[in-house]
Amino acid sequence: MITRPDTPLPWLNYLGQDDLFGLCTNTGGGYTFWRDARLRRLTRYRYNDAPYDPVGRYLYVRDGTSVWNPGWRPTKVALDRYECRHGLGYTRLTAAKDGVEVQLLFFVPPGEDVELWRATVRNETDRVKELTLFSYLELCFYEALNDMTNFQRTYSIGEVEVEGGGIYHTTEYRERRDHYTLFGCTREIAGFDTSRDEFVGVHNGLHDAAVPFTGAARGSVAHGWNPIASHQLELRLGPEEEETFAFVLAYVHGAEPKFERSGAANKEPGRALLARYGRDGAVDEAFEALRAYWDGLLSALHVDCPDRHGTRMLSTWNQYQCVATLNLSRSASLYETGIGRGIGFRDSNQDILGVVHLAPERTRARILDLAATQLSDGRCFHQYQPLTKLGNSAIGSDFNDDPLWLVLSTCAYVKETGDSSILDERVGYSDRPGSAEPLLHHLETSVGFTVGHRGDRGLPLIGHADWNDCLNLNCFSTDPDESFQTAGDVEGSRAESVMIAGLFLYACRELAGLYRHLGRPDDAERLDRARAGMLAAVEEQAWDGEWYVRAFDARGAAVGSRSCEEGSIFVESQAWCILGGAGRENGRAVRALESVHEHLFTEHGVVLHQPAFTRYDPALGEITSYPPGYKENAGVFCHAATWIILAWCLLGEGDRALEYYLTTCPSAQEERIETYRSEPYVFAQMIAGPDAATPGEARNSWLTGTAAWSFLALAEGILGIRPDYEGLRIDPCIPCGWAGYSVTRRFRGATYEIAVSNPEGVCGGVRSLRVDGRELDAKVVPAARSGEQVRVEVVLGRGG
Ligand code: GLC
Ligand code: GLC
Repeated sequence: MITRPDTPLPWLNYLGQDDLFGLCTNTGGGYTFWRDARLRRLTRYRYNDAPYDPVGRYLYVRDGTSVWNPGWRPTKVALDRYECRHGLGYTRLTAAKDGVEVQLLFFVPPGEDVELWRATVRNETDRVKELTLFSYLELCFYEALNDMTNFQRTYSIGEVEVEGGGIYHTTEYRERRDHYTLFGCTREIAGFDTSRDEFVGVHNGLHDAAVPFTGAARGSVAHGWNPIASHQLELRLGPEEEETFAFVLAYVHGAEPKFERSGAANKEPGRALLARYGRDGAVDEAFEALRAYWDGLLSALHVDCPDRHGTRMLSTWNQYQCVATLNLSRSASLYETGIGRGIGFRDSNQDILGVVHLAPERTRARILDLAATQLSDGRCFHQYQPLTKLGNSAIGSDFNDDPLWLVLSTCAYVKETGDSSILDERVGYSDRPGSAEPLLHHLETSVGFTVGHRGDRGLPLIGHADWNDCLNLNCFSTDPDESFQTAGDVEGSRAESVMIAGLFLYACRELAGLYRHLGRPDDAERLDRARAGMLAAVEEQAWDGEWYVRAFDARGAAVGSRSCEEGSIFVESQAWCILGGAGRENGRAVRALESVHEHLFTEHGVVLHQPAFTRYDPALGEITSYPPGYKENAGVFCHAATWIILAWCLLGEGDRALEYYLTTCPSAQEERIETYRSEPYVFAQMIAGPDAATPGEARNSWLTGTAAWSFLALAEGILGIRPDYEGLRIDPCIPCGWAGYSVTRRFRGATYEIAVSNPEGVCGGVRSLRVDGRELDAKVVPAARSGEQVRVEVVLGRGG
């Protein structure tokens, strides 16, 4: 719950769960789109503006001559009370001024292409109140980039139709579009406007918009320029009286017939929606359906552990954020404009790791969509457009880590669901129209790509970059007008990545495990051998004495080595080599993590490398272009920091693991929120590191791989509840001071009530495991039948 409107930055929530999505900030800012924030944007938003966060879902309340907004913006008139509750799939603003309380509830009912704004207006005084209300939203010409750049055309195409309380945005409906936007009101209206110039006034702003301040709508019908949708409502409320009604924002498509008479869109579906939500109780029923939807989803996992931040994040907000990353990948947030990025290959494959337990069917479909953007030689399109599902290279290609992530997501899916039929699903390669190969073939192609693309040391070639987009070792860009990721590589350059080597170790182990599960030991052994070869290359080539080198650049020089003046130790290679199983027998894993602790751990989290780069170096690329301490140049890149938590868990260091978890955990930032600035309920991509001018300041909240990996770090690493082919593996690594914890986990339709106790004060080691009272020898709780309730008691202790 947010209790002041002037948060350090706008604080965001998402509405929607299927096709229609809305961004909604704590002052009502944000926009709505259908499936694709670039190609089907319904309402407008202006990124990169001051103040932040224009425009949104606005309601003006005119009470006598005073005009105010329950969401505070845009008039910013001081409110007597203000409260914003961002909940699961909804945002509720409640505000009061001069004895009038207005509550606005925004949400998208499950399965509908409709966003509802339920408004409740209450007279808290003992006198009659006569109020005039004006709704406001700005309509977008659907293709968002065009909408904000091609004014010579767009200012002449806008069309609307108005009928009763329904405002229909029909731009381009006469020609190639089969959809329109409806913004309607379920209550009788006293007027409307659809022209921004008329409503706002050419020389005014939304804070002093002409219509609400003069008190009368103008009935304007937009012909080009900027269409908006606004209703005027007259309310007369007796003492203590209240009235509730709703605004309906809908995406209507495929109406048959398309027109109801010459030139007039078929508005029947729109009328039906207004009638439906105008019925008593209909909006409340829809809200109940939303609650049931989220309760059902998040009931997949509930945790009660001694750390209140962990409990809070894992049970609700971390899972909720993971769903947002599944839905939106990196496309639309306050920092991703919905135009530049679609569904990222590497990003979404990782996002899946954090949501497969709650949305198995949807992750299945996503895995297949992602695989369909792979090329037959193993490379992948780095992203695809959500509406068309077609891959593109708009933000670059040849990130050589990409293919391997598909192995991780697919294995995670099969472990969670037990459904290995996905491996036989036939998916084409995007450069071979008409091809159809089993998904398993794609996994082999992925691994084969790494094997076939190695450098002089036997380590994987990095391509344009690996997970770290900004480590561009092959392109030498000195042209300020080119992007680092789309610039061409220097002919014949052969930079190698130790991070991909570690990821390969991990992916091979996963795929070998899958083959063993499938009863194909020969294939498993083939992968074991490929892995052993890479492991030998890592241990022979990549050890720098106290940590693993990060890469070898195009000239063959080590990156992330003691021999480097700047960037001498990096986090990614330590994390992935250890997670991939390197350094176990020879003690290097322990040594490398101690080095991380010594050189990279800070009060704000683990920074990506040290020392920060102070000079631009074309041989290293974009990473050296950021000011020290920000983003990939020695910022706390929270996503990578989570891998280290898992690495500590592998080594059994539970106290360290939780200590690291808490540094980037949003809920733990509340005390320093003026510095942190971003939402204290969702993970951010980056927190400025100690080299920065603003250390501790978070940036790029919401759509980040940090969500999935923080989930894994706590749920699977620290609490140690891991899905496996045969059942749920239990292998905790907790702070030794914890007396115990409990977890409710849904797994393949059965519910496991897991109680862990720690009488000896250890970090890990299962001393005994009882399932429904029966003692088991193994650490794996066998999968029960769907619908069953399973009681699991775990006692930790020495000798476990
Ligand atoms: C961004 C990208 C992700 C990349 C990371 C590190 O979060 O979305 O793909 O791995 O930055 O550069
Ligand atoms: C990643 C990085 C960002 C970089 C971008 C390039 O998202 O986080 O710093 O500019 O990739 O596409």
